[in-house]
Amino acid sequence: MPDYLIDAWELHKSFGETRAVDGVSLSVAAGEIYGLVGPDGAGKTTVMRLLCGALTLDDGDVEIGGYDIRRQVERAREQIGYLAQRFSLYEELTVQENLRFFAEVRGLQPAQWAPRSREILAFVGLEPFRDRRAGQLSGGMKQKLGLALALINEPRVLLLDEPTTGVDPVTRQDFWRLILPLLRRGNLAVLVSTPYMDEALRCTRIGFMRGGRIISEGPPADLRRRLDGRILELAGSPDKLLVEMARRDPGVETAERFGNRFHLRVAPGQAQAVLARLGPAIQAAGGTVEELAIIDPQLEDVFIELAEHQA
Ligand SMILES: Nc1ncnc2c1ncn2[C@@H]1O[C@H](COP(=O)(O)OP(=O)(O)O)[C@@H](O)[C@H]1O
Ligand SMILES: [Mg+2]
Repeated sequence: MPDYLIDAWELHKSFGETRAVDGVSLSVAAGEIYGLVGPDGAGKTTVMRLLCGALTLDDGDVEIGGYDIRRQVERAREQIGYLAQRFSLYEELTVQENLRFFAEVRGLQPAQWAPRSREILAFVGLEPFRDRRAGQLSGGMKQKLGLALALINEPRVLLLDEPTTGVDPVTRQDFWRLILPLLRRGNLAVLVSTPYMDEALRCTRIGFMRGGRIISEGPPADLRRRLDGRILELAGSPDKLLVEMARRDPGVETAERFGNRFHLRVAPGQAQAVLARLGPAIQAAGGTVEELAIIDPQLEDVFIELAEHQA
């Protein structure tokens, strides 16, 4: 049995008629990073807020580092660093003052937070900006300060709710460069929600959420295997004709653009039949086919399928 630092069982939370979280169970062990992905409104934020006790459960159980979120909420919270989806900084306070304020709120004494805040600022690369007002930071720097605040109490459980949404790709890379070494220390469990597939791929496990439930879960490689043999890549011209012909083929379930090519998802057992007839059909209609072949499914393909599956 791995040592689960996040252990959640059958969580339920409704807001009026909305079943925001409708029976979610998940466990995350030390050294793991679990990715929650799913469309807006799937319930990701509500799960995070239930895990850290910011919302009360309608039903279900949560243990954080072995502490029950209902009966030992203070002890449980001490284990957690939480970067909320829309967190707020004190814009008039400097970077350093924000850290100090946050540390005090978390009950750290000056003898603890002074060295800790230096270490954290160096870690996130904000040391040169320690005296800058938070309101004057770029979006990426604000995210890093948010992470610094979440890490101030040396949590064993880190909850990151869409930490990189809306920041530029370089800053997203930077952010992940900070998270991954933290995990290698082996005493931290991370739960992150993200809309980005490249980030989901970096997770140890992924849970795909929709309608308040986790409808599929596993390591990224396992999830991709779900569609083995069912994704064809199609390239050629003209685009409009390619996609039209593909969608007209009875064996093709979906045709989606991926950069300058299309991914076709075919019904189970239909790949060979589609391969045999689609190329000639496109040519007969006056188009050209540069490529038509079975490829390894990508995470995007899987999510498109999962999302439809439930709709
Ligand atoms: N405080 C709230 N009051 C009412 N409805 C809420 C509240 N928080 C979330 N919801 C609803 O619960 C569902 C899940 O929301 P949320 O957990 O924010 O999803 P996600 O983070 O995946 O976008 C949505 O339908 C949302 O509108
Ligand atoms: Mg959210």
